[in-house]
Amino acid sequence: MTHDPGHGTRAVPFSLATGCRVEYNAARDNNFKIFTVQSEEEMARKPASKREKPASPAGVPDDAWSEIESLREEIWRYRRFYYLEDSPEIPDAEYDKLERSLLELLEKYPAAKRPDCPTEVPGVSIDLETFAPVKHSAPMLSLDNAMDADEMADWVKRVEKDLGREIKALTVEPKMDGLSISLTYRKGALVQAATRGDGRTGENVTDNVRTIKAIPKKLGKPLDLDVRGEIYMEIRAFEDFNAKQVMRGEKVYVNPRNLASGSLRQKDPEVTRSRPLAFVAYDAAEAKKNLGVSGQAEMLDALAGLGLPVSDQWKKTGANEIEKSYAAMLEKREKLLYEIDGMVVKVDDFSEREKLGATGHHPRWAIAYKFPPEEAETVVNEIAVQVGRTGALTPVANLEPVRVGGVTVSRATLHNQDEIDRLDVREGDAVIIRRAGDVIPEIVQVIKEKRPKGARKYSLPAKCPVCNSAVDRLEGEVNHYCTSIACPAQAMEAISHFASKNTMDIEGLGPKMVEQLYEAKLVGNIADLYDLKDRRDDVLGLERMAEKSADNLLAAIEESKKRPLGRIIFALGIRLVGRQTGDLLAESFGSIGKLAKAKADELESLYDVGPKVAQSIVDFFSAKSNLDIIKRLKKAGLAFKAEKREGGVLTGFSFCITGKLSRPRTYFQDMVRNNGGTVVSSVTKGLDYLIIGEEAGSKRKKAEKLGVTLLTEDEFLAVVEGGGVLPERGSGR
Ligand code: IVH
Repeated sequence: MTHDPGHGTRAVPFSLATGCRVEYNAARDNNFKIFTVQSEEEMARKPASKREKPASPAGVPDDAWSEIESLREEIWRYRRFYYLEDSPEIPDAEYDKLERSLLELLEKYPAAKRPDCPTEVPGVSIDLETFAPVKHSAPMLSLDNAMDADEMADWVKRVEKDLGREIKALTVEPKMDGLSISLTYRKGALVQAATRGDGRTGENVTDNVRTIKAIPKKLGKPLDLDVRGEIYMEIRAFEDFNAKQVMRGEKVYVNPRNLASGSLRQKDPEVTRSRPLAFVAYDAAEAKKNLGVSGQAEMLDALAGLGLPVSDQWKKTGANEIEKSYAAMLEKREKLLYEIDGMVVKVDDFSEREKLGATGHHPRWAIAYKFPPEEAETVVNEIAVQVGRTGALTPVANLEPVRVGGVTVSRATLHNQDEIDRLDVREGDAVIIRRAGDVIPEIVQVIKEKRPKGARKYSLPAKCPVCNSAVDRLEGEVNHYCTSIACPAQAMEAISHFASKNTMDIEGLGPKMVEQLYEAKLVGNIADLYDLKDRRDDVLGLERMAEKSADNLLAAIEESKKRPLGRIIFALGIRLVGRQTGDLLAESFGSIGKLAKAKADELESLYDVGPKVAQSIVDFFSAKSNLDIIKRLKKAGLAFKAEKREGGVLTGFSFCITGKLSRPRTYFQDMVRNNGGTVVSSVTKGLDYLIIGEEAGSKRKKAEKLGVTLLTEDEFLAVVEGGGVLPERGSGR
């Protein structure tokens, strides 16, 4: 969390902003004035003439003044997004840059300073519509930042100069990426909780805080104590919550900090209760007097002793150990269950702290030594599509290269069309990307306000970018798939599937061998396997291929030609068609030729074939590349006709089953199939027999209308078990 102005020199009275986008809102709480940041809508409603900017003060050139003005405006706006809407519009590091630019300009042109500009006020003012204001007993200050080792060393020098000697001891603590909270305990009982707000006045969130299990409602001793700490959310809880929000089609939070803040700042405490918020304490007001301790380390122990959770990662150390501690904490960062964005270095001893004092905005005895940012802003130059080994199309954003998480990133995964739609990411968009640890970089947010004019919504292509075959997205699935088994992008996977034990069972043709054959360009698709017998020498030329194993492999490929049709259908790799469906299709259609011509409704009339499977089969056989391969397989001599079951009494007839039967329907389905018949699920003119149980309804009526022959359960069983004869088809019973 970095949106803290790290500079400034004095506590300031609040007054109406000049040139800053703040507006006096209400004077309450004695003489304490509270202002809120105006909303965009309010600004938009106000005519431009009423929003005139004051002329530049003496000594400030016009261009510098206008830059200062727009920086102030921008910073206020980003703070509002960050603090009030829990939805940052730019990465922390970008925001920090804006503040630094403004500070530099103000240092150069002090006449441009205004007391209530963002650099002078920590945080943002408060949401008075939802929460009552709370004046903090002591201001809730922010922290100065060190961005690198030089800035860190400068701080140590400055502190030692001010002390006139070396620092006795320091503590280092993780800088929790959450939101700060002030807890008021009276006689050991929690009586009030307030957000930081603008540092002087916060929001009263007592009812909400009472629902957080991690925050004790009673201390171990009946003390009067003001405790400060951080409310945060663990990464797992954040991810779980977001996953649910995606399913519900509701707002997804950018990071755990925003979710923690959004969860705390709720109108209804019951909503807060349902969110797993965590807490650590890191400070207590007047700790010397109230707790009898003389430094940070002792204080943290005392707070823990009272039952308050404190970090388990803090350490007492010395000035020349800072870099070592920093490196250690940085390494630990990825293993922690929560997010941290730096290490807070604090002078341990309270009497040294007193000597150092504070500015209006941060104590001089503490500094946040920031970690390299894990988020950065960049631009999506192009959305490209990769086709994976399973044929799934994965959209990838090609980015303007940017440094994030310690490396230069130029691509980020976009997962699938749903993710593109959720983010509404378009080519040319400015985006926030995130790379934490070894995790693949991801786009977390689109900066909509920076969208170039004319940027168009992105949809995955209708044709595979690798082989130009049709692309298919089955209902209820997140991925789009290329429908061609000849697609080079998925060739290896398709060949391995074809050769595996459950399909064509080609011994010696595991994924490694497939890869070797593919890399050597001996096999590009499944049909090429059957040409290998003419390229024995090339096969022998493969690495570690002995004569015997080459011959065995070629023999196994030949042997596979005998596999039955059902297995071949499964081996083709038609999406959603498994072994059982392969057998069913083989039995029902009898040949690949007939199956290839089948229409979706015809397929759907089979048991176990729903609309998705039917569509997948139709798509498969409409890809020309698939038909070409099938032609070659046929020529190679694969068994493309189903062997008719010898002597099956039902051979050649189709059956549909309806009504309540004495046994499960699957029992009768199996019986039909085992006796050579075909099971279909709907009554059509072409149906041969309808087996009717009790209470047979609409199907029976339809069959009667169409003149389809009806069979009772007993009649059917008499045919298959007792060797009876089927009544003549169309005998109209
Ligand atoms: S001490 C007067 N210790 O960082 C000093 N702050 O950027 C008060 N923070 O507002 C802060 N972890 O919300 C302190 N171990 C830690 C912290 C910590 C996170 C937050 C805190 C503060 C902000 C300043």
